[in-house]
Formats: sequence, structure tokens, C-alpha cells
Amino acid sequence: MRGSIRTRLLAAFLLVAVAAAAALSIYSLAVVEAYGVRRLQERLDTEARVSAGLLSAAIGTIGTTHVGPSLAAATSRALKQAGAETATRIIVVDSTGRVVADGGTPSVIGSVYSARPEIRSALRGTEGSATRSLSNGRLALFVAVPISAGGHVVGATYVSSTTFSVATLLRDYRGQLALVALAFLLAALVLTEVLTRWLTRPLRDLQVSARRLATDHSVRVRPVGPRETRELAAAFNQLAEEIETSSDELHEEERRKSRFVSDVSHELRSPLTGIRLAAETLLDNEVGAEDQQRFLATIIREADRLTGLANDLLELQRIEGATGELPLGRVDLRRAATLAVEANDPVAADRGVAVTVEGRAPEVLGAADRLQQVVGNLVDNATRHTPAGGHVRVILSGEAGWAVLRVVDEGPGIPPADLANLFERFWRAQYSRDRATGGAGLGLAIVRAIVASHGGTIEAANRPEGGAAFTVRLPSLRD
Ligand SMILES: Nc1ncnc2c1ncn2[C@@H]1O[C@H](COP(=O)(O)OP(=O)(O)OP(=O)(O)O)[C@@H](O)[C@H]1O
Ligand SMILES: [Mg+2]
Repeated sequence: MRGSIRTRLLAAFLLVAVAAAAALSIYSLAVVEAYGVRRLQERLDTEARVSAGLLSAAIGTIGTTHVGPSLAAATSRALKQAGAETATRIIVVDSTGRVVADGGTPSVIGSVYSARPEIRSALRGTEGSATRSLSNGRLALFVAVPISAGGHVVGATYVSSTTFSVATLLRDYRGQLALVALAFLLAALVLTEVLTRWLTRPLRDLQVSARRLATDHSVRVRPVGPRETRELAAAFNQLAEEIETSSDELHEEERRKSRFVSDVSHELRSPLTGIRLAAETLLDNEVGAEDQQRFLATIIREADRLTGLANDLLELQRIEGATGELPLGRVDLRRAATLAVEANDPVAADRGVAVTVEGRAPEVLGAADRLQQVVGNLVDNATRHTPAGGHVRVILSGEAGWAVLRVVDEGPGIPPADLANLFERFWRAQYSRDRATGGAGLGLAIVRAIVASHGGTIEAANRPEGGAAFTVRLPSLRD
């Protein structure tokens, strides 16, 4: 069913009101009718008995045993007089049921009523009565009472009158009934309007808010009104909350992406500029043989940087995108660390920094190559930031449920403000940017991605005695 709440409410109210009014009116009219009939019956009974009694007395006085013509004529006159005052018609029938006296007009004297059950019953000595509906809708009541003389029934008085019925009441009060129906309609309309407003106000508010939500995600509604609309409002607020959060996340993701793209292009620009400058100079024929070698070396170094950058980016993408694709196995972190340190040895030696591996850690489930890469990147950073003659330590240990690997150095440490950004892609502390050395700032991002894919954590801190400490925790294997 379509249509507004208002139409439905109105229809429901009208239906209920009309049904209730109809049922109530029919019931009360029926009660009124029954009451009227009862009262009339009582009156007719009395009149019939009184007149029958009077006639019996008269016949007794006259000394006959039937209603004679003179008595009938006198009775007819008396009844006419009485009937003029009341709405009752009194007839007298003789013992055969023939009318001998009639107070009404047109007179029915001579007609035979013996076929009527109430007359037959009276002529047998018992009072009889009947109720009949007339063609005009009114009810007619008949009461017949025997007239006795000398121990015999000599005739009967037959009294009748009409009264209202439900049908006549309905007809007579049509105007009033129409008025009442109109009043019902008006009351239903007013009630509907008030109720509709009250019921739909929270819905209208909700509608307005829903429209606004499309452009403003901070829109919330106040839960008011009936329980259902309050619940709807709460659901709306929850929805709005989720939309706001996910749109914030989307914006953050977009910001990260665009920063990533600008970082990548920035990183590409400097090696490309270097290559281009070197090539331009080489094209200039006046370059000496020694300079030629130098520029060619620059071109190769910058090209290597580009390759390294591309490799690192691909690597990061692979680790972050990989789910369950790593070849997993039992990994002894001591072995992985030793291999990584050995691979780093030439660079560390070049920087004049000693690297040692100490302690043991419980075995972990993981990809040995990747974990070796974690140690390699951390050791590379540590040796880079430690002055020549310094010492970098890789310390292994176990903690409840965790294998712990710490790389500590004797460098300058990390400015506290930078600790939060350290693991972001392309992030480098300002002093590292200023230096000609150093990579793209992807090393720690790769480390964090690998550790995360192993279900572990990494944190950076400054040691009280100076230098940085990177702590990696990986879930250990129990047996
Ligand atoms: N042990 C350390 N001591 C002091 N600063 C460090 C240390 N390790 C990392 N950093 C700082 O964190 C930055 C990010 O390190 P990350 O390894 O991600 O990049 P990178 O070493 O500069 O380049 P890449 O590793 O990509 O070649 C470094 O540039 C440096 O500023
Ligand atoms: Mg690094």
C-alpha cells in the first residue's frame, strides 16, 4: 500500500470511528426499541384488561351472556371518545371473533379476526399478544384479553398501538446522525493531523539530515520521538560515524599516495639530473681523458642508484602486498644475523666500524632471507651513523613468547621528534638528507613491512649512553 502516513492514519481512524459508531448506535437503538415495546406492551395490557373487565361487569349487569348490539353501540361510542385522546385503538370481538365494537376509523365492525393467534388465544380464555412490523417501518403491538360472563368467554377486547422501531428511529434521526458522522470525520481529521505531525517530525528531521550527510559527514541527529524513530536516529548516527571514519581514512590514504608519488619523483630527479649533466659534459669534446672516466663513473653510479631505488620500491610493494606467500620455515636468528653481518662486512670495514653478533634467541617461524634483510638494513644504518673506530652490536635474546633482536650503535642517535617518522617511506632525518651519502629512505620502511608480515613489532629508541637502538620482536616457536 502506497500513500503517506497521514492518509493511512486517517483511513484507520475513520474505519475504527465508523465501525464503533455504527455498532454503538445499532446497539443503543435496539435497547431503546425494546424499552419502547415493553412500555407499550404494559400500557396495552392494562387498557385491554380494564376494558375487558368493564365489559364483563356491564354484561353481568345487563344479564345477558353475550355482547349485544346495544352494548356494542354504546361501547363503540365510548371507545371513539377515548381513542380520540390516545393513540390506542380498542376493538371488541364476540365469541366467534367478529368485530362488534370499534373505537377507530375507518371502522372495521363486521370483520372477522378469528384467524389471528392472539384473538384465538383470548377466545380460549388466555390473554394473547403479538408484535408486527408495519410497511412504514413502525412496530404494531396487539393485545387480546377475554371477556367473561357467567363462566364463559363471550368475546375479547383487542387493543393495538404502534411504536417506533430501529428503522423509524434511523429515518427520523437521519439529520442528527449525519451531523454526528461529520463530527466524527472532523475529529478524526484533527487527530490524524496532530498524530502525523508528532510521528513524522523526527522522520522529516532525519530526511533533512540524510540529505546533508551527502556533503557534510559530521551531521548527527538527536534521537527524539517514539522508540522506533529514536532507534532509527541511533542507526543513522552510527552510519554517519562509519561514513565519516572511512572517508577520513580514504583522505589519509589519498594524502599518503600523493606524498608517495611526489617523493618517488623527487628521488628520481636527482640521479637523472646527475646522469644528464655528466652526459652533456661528455658530449662536449673538450673533456680530458681523466674527466671522461669520472663522468662515466658518475653515470654508472647514478644509474645504479636508480636501479636500487626501483628494486627497493618493488620489494616494499611485494612485502606489503604478500599475504601468506612467503616461504616459511624455522629460522635461527643467530644464523640469519651472522650471515647478514658477513655480507655487510666489506662496507663496515670501509667505514672503520666493527660489528659483532651476541647471544641467542628462540627460533621463529619465518622467511630466512627476509629476516636476514632486516638485520642487514639495520646494521647498514648503524654502521653508517657510527663514527670510524666505533662498534655496532647485534644482541639476541628471548622474552616470554618472543625472540628479540636489538641493533645498537655508537652514533648520534635519533632526534626524539623524528622517532615517530623513522619507518615512513622516503623519510630521512634532515642531517641525512644534507649528507651526500645515504640511500632513499626506504630501508626502515622495508624492515617494518617484513617484521609486520611476521607478526612482530619494531621500535627505535636512543640509548642513555648514546647511540640508537632498534628492537625487533618476533613471535617465537614454542618447541
Ligand atoms: N642507527 C641510526 N642512527 C641515526 N639515525 C638513523 C639510524 N638509522 C636510521 N636513521 C635515520 O632514519 C632515516 C631512515 O632510514 P632508512 O634506513 O629508512 O633510510 P636510509 O638509510 O636513509 O636509506 P636506505 O636505507 O633506503 O638506503 C635515515 O635517513 C636516518 O636519518
Ligand atoms: Mg637505511
